Amino acid sequence: MLPSDAAASDITATSEWAALARHARELQAGGVDLAALSEADPDRPGRCTSTAGQLVIDWSRHLVTDATVELLLALAERAGVAARIEAMLGGEPVNVTDGRAVLHTALRAPAGEAVVTGGVDVAPAIAAEHERMRAFVRALRSGERRGATGLPIRTVVNIGIGGSQLGPAMAHEALAAFRSDGIECRFVSNIDPAALAAGLDGLDPAQTLFIVVSKGFATAETLANARAARAWAASVLGSEAASRHFVAVTADRDAAVEFGIEPDDVFSTWDWVGGRFSMGSAAGLAVMAAIGEENFAAMLAGMRTIDEHVAAGPAASVPMLLGLLSVWYRNFWGFQTRAVVPYSERLRLFGVWLQQVIMESNGKRVRLDGSPVGCETAEIVWGGPGTDSQHSFHQLLHQGTTVVPADFIVLARPDADVAGLAGAAERHEALVANCFAQAAALAFGTPPAEEDDPHRELPGNRPSTVILAPELTPSVLGQLVALYEHQTVVQGAVWGINSFDQFGVELGKTLADGIAADLQAGTVPADTDHDPATKSLIAHYRRVRED
Ligand code: F6P
Repeated sequence: MLPSDAAASDITATSEWAALARHARELQAGGVDLAALSEADPDRPGRCTSTAGQLVIDWSRHLVTDATVELLLALAERAGVAARIEAMLGGEPVNVTDGRAVLHTALRAPAGEAVVTGGVDVAPAIAAEHERMRAFVRALRSGERRGATGLPIRTVVNIGIGGSQLGPAMAHEALAAFRSDGIECRFVSNIDPAALAAGLDGLDPAQTLFIVVSKGFATAETLANARAARAWAASVLGSEAASRHFVAVTADRDAAVEFGIEPDDVFSTWDWVGGRFSMGSAAGLAVMAAIGEENFAAMLAGMRTIDEHVAAGPAASVPMLLGLLSVWYRNFWGFQTRAVVPYSERLRLFGVWLQQVIMESNGKRVRLDGSPVGCETAEIVWGGPGTDSQHSFHQLLHQGTTVVPADFIVLARPDADVAGLAGAAERHEALVANCFAQAAALAFGTPPAEEDDPHRELPGNRPSTVILAPELTPSVLGQLVALYEHQTVVQGAVWGINSFDQFGVELGKTLADGIAADLQAGTVPADTDHDPATKSLIAHYRRVRED
């Protein structure tokens, strides 16, 4: 089925949707109870545990029965989800509003495998760019590529925002155990001058290299920070020498060259790689610089493992199931948010990365054909690392009046570089125990016999997924990333929306340009065409600034 065919039908008007709504009402009226489900079916944990690659996914604590899963799969079938995934993997222009293919999976496809879109095999271009990345990182590490004064590069500063920062920064943090000495990486995204100031703190321009990552090379924050960084470097090295300290990653080569970056120092990404799905592209250059080419390849291989799992049978894949569970809660239970809680200090940015992936992809209100979507779409993604989260927001998860499905991610072994520390094994085990305990407490609550004080009682019946992986390796990280990317695609396909554009962010950018011009020009707000509230704010701003 072509994407536009899927768009033609309103999924909320189908008999499959109605059947799920009926089923949900029945479960809710009957007081579906996780404790009772578990008691009635001792095999439930085993039956409701799936594997994808090295990931073990326990979804037994969800408010579902076998019938629910069947009905959800029927809904996916009716929505043409598997066909949509196949169209995406096959290079069809599934991003219909931009008229583009969506081929982040090509970035991690097996070597030598053709990936054709629009009659062109893009695999050779990807392979060539990955080779350029490897050569660059080798040259950086060996000292062949030095700064303008001849000193080796010690720090790489990634300047980029959104998809040009969140994934790489998350991976850099997650894979701390795999970083090799010699090159430190930093990430600067915010236009707030404090961000660049922190990013440059203590650095020597002669030993610093900037990677300006911007698919469109027009993003205000990134260009402002890149210009400021160049001025900082030029103030010490002179402007010609400073340009040797800049490379770019972009789909707009001309814009990067016009900015002053040498053509040979421009790495390519392509319009068929969405920024938020671009971790496997040259947008990951800083990550490769930090962890080395082999570990970067292992991360891509991890992503590929899940891509292959999905490609082998989208309808029966784990991302299909997990994506459908989020649809179940969002549309049939009215749950608005999903908490993502990695029991891993180094995965603390995982939820921040995922916020863009899910909310920028699926925070949409019209279907592919422009008609109103007619149901709720993306959940609000939030969270933070366990166990810290337990001492912060878990109170609401356990006893609040709103139900928040939670994803817990936990590793069987501690990170390799800390495993040998005194007491690390015990502390890691305590971490795992806390994760399992939270899932149990949410699902099963306080045993009724033990508590008759309503203030102390936990109601239970709150759903969660536990994702268990052996260790936070590059491959496991890649698997986790792809697992969530594919879930996002599943959600969007059910709702019949375009998960790959982001027009919602444009108006704010245009307004900010106009307001910034007025702030700088010092024009009287009354003379501008801003709305009255904005004019009032501008007036207050000027007064407060000048006081
Ligand atoms: O916020 C909008 C957005 O276009 C994101 O989709 C993107 O990841 C980010 O800005 C950065 O864009 P670019 O890589 O073009 O600078």
